[in-house]
Amino acid sequence: MCGIVGYIGKREAWPILIKGLERLEYRGYDSAGVALMQKDSLLVYKKKGKVSELKNFVGDKNVISGVGIAHTRWATHGEPSDVNAHPQKSNSGEIAVVHNGIIENYLSIKKALIEKGYHFESATDTEVLANLIEDIKKNTHSNLDEAVRFALQEAVGAYAIAVLSADEPNTIIVAKNGSPVVIGIGDQEYFIASDATPIIEYTDKVIYLDDLEMAIIKDGNLTVKTIKNEIKNPYIQKLEMKIEELEKGGFPHFMLKEIYEQPRSIRDSMRGRINIQDGLVKLGGIEKYEDKLLNAKRIIILACGTSWHAGLEAKYFFEELAKVPVYVEHASEFRYRSPVIYDNDLVIAISQSGETADTLAALNLAKEKGATVFGVCNVVGSSIPRATHAGSYTHAGPEIGVASTKAFTAQMTVLLLMCLFLASSKGELSKKQMQDILSELDGIPEKIEKALKTNEEIKKIALKLKDAENFIYLGRGYGFPLALEGALKLKEISYIHAEGCPAGEMKHGPIALVDENMPVVFIANKGNSYEKLISNMMEVKARKGIIIAIISEGDTHVKEIADFVIEIPETSDVLMPFVASIPFQLLAYHIALLRGCDIDKPRNLAKSVTVE
Ligand code: M6R
Repeated sequence: MCGIVGYIGKREAWPILIKGLERLEYRGYDSAGVALMQKDSLLVYKKKGKVSELKNFVGDKNVISGVGIAHTRWATHGEPSDVNAHPQKSNSGEIAVVHNGIIENYLSIKKALIEKGYHFESATDTEVLANLIEDIKKNTHSNLDEAVRFALQEAVGAYAIAVLSADEPNTIIVAKNGSPVVIGIGDQEYFIASDATPIIEYTDKVIYLDDLEMAIIKDGNLTVKTIKNEIKNPYIQKLEMKIEELEKGGFPHFMLKEIYEQPRSIRDSMRGRINIQDGLVKLGGIEKYEDKLLNAKRIIILACGTSWHAGLEAKYFFEELAKVPVYVEHASEFRYRSPVIYDNDLVIAISQSGETADTLAALNLAKEKGATVFGVCNVVGSSIPRATHAGSYTHAGPEIGVASTKAFTAQMTVLLLMCLFLASSKGELSKKQMQDILSELDGIPEKIEKALKTNEEIKKIALKLKDAENFIYLGRGYGFPLALEGALKLKEISYIHAEGCPAGEMKHGPIALVDENMPVVFIANKGNSYEKLISNMMEVKARKGIIIAIISEGDTHVKEIADFVIEIPETSDVLMPFVASIPFQLLAYHIALLRGCDIDKPRNLAKSVTVE
């Protein structure tokens, strides 16, 4: 939540900052702002709304500067407004701060500053930090870096910040605790950002600050130290990202592009990890901790949102194929309970962004209690993979649309591979069974290509259903987590209320909602629960509900019952969720499009949820 960008060097900062904000807008889009260093003052422009509104507001005003910081906001403290937008300035106007995170003790600091005569215009915790830095700087006669360092010793909470001071025009101070920040190293120039996407076109050399570290970029030099003043020797990494991955490539929205990328992203998530001929799976990232997986008496999965749904699918994989019990936990609940963890528990934290605050806190709690933690993440170098003992990346490539699509199927791919590795190592699956599943998995990208061809049909269905006020999604077995995911996709981008539910549970309550205005989406592929699903469908039909059924190709029986059908290639139960995800994603996309919603940036949401 919130994106920060900074630049210091020989180029014009403004275009770099604005492009960077556009790349980071997925992290929040309640307001945007920049602070540009002038000779001995700071020029600050900020505006409620998206980056485009900031650009319009700035128009042809002066933006000439080689040093600047910028911010795109997901509001926490204070409503979205010009005044609450970042950068936040200190009372003298000499210090400007952009901040991603929450300073938890800001109220007590604010109170102390008010007693000293400071006043506050915004409701933000960041303005408090700007004034704290100013106060320390004045009272201790220190440089900006020392003032920031002392201020951060007082501040409790999460932050990634970039700070400018008008009296040190060739300096940017960056610091991190909990929220991510990357520093790109160019030729006598430095780029700062919440993730690497604003940096990649200028340099592939980056450093990731660790928690409680700060970077002092001053007169062309970079020094990294802890906030306790220990000098660090930062590890310079090479970025593997490609610039094309960050652009829409001819698609009207990132979400649609990402839906269409799934054959590729699933292949990339399997590449080098499966050997069909020998019926083997190899996951390099967990090799050192394989014994922990093999000896686990149970697996606990920690995740949020769509990643939680991938975890729920994994429960079905692991319990059916590897015969290990799996508990899937909402990270936000787990971290505030007193969960019981045993030595031989294995915890898997799943996260696309690798930055979700609840998931990070939950896995740290599990670690403290002695568990071994694996990560299944998409963003290389993000906080969760750095906090886990071992893990496997998903290789879905950058996912920019706020609604998660390709990350979901890539997560399921990696989780299934982990499960197959375990099942074969434990002898639960024979070589022949492994060969069969792996070769079917290998064919999934092709089946997804076919499922994507339902796009035109889905557009027509969307046109008929776009004005519905509610939706129900029903599935059984592997179809149940998918029902939850289908409902989440629809509600987050179209703002239609949608509920996912196990089809067998419908009669215990949700059926009361069914009437002639209620669309009910069934995952009704040919599989173990097929007959039971048909019975549930009949129950909905008897109450005049509108039935939309996702069916296996050639199924004529459901066609006679349902109002609309979407045919997908037939697969085994285990692999069905990969293919059946596609119509869900496309249906949500087209309904949202017809309702005029902002698909890639749905209201109130952000891609990376770095607050509790
Ligand atoms: O980055 P993460 O996978 O940890 O994010 C978890 C959720 O915030 C995320 O899946 C969210 O639910 C998506 N907007 C769903 O489309």
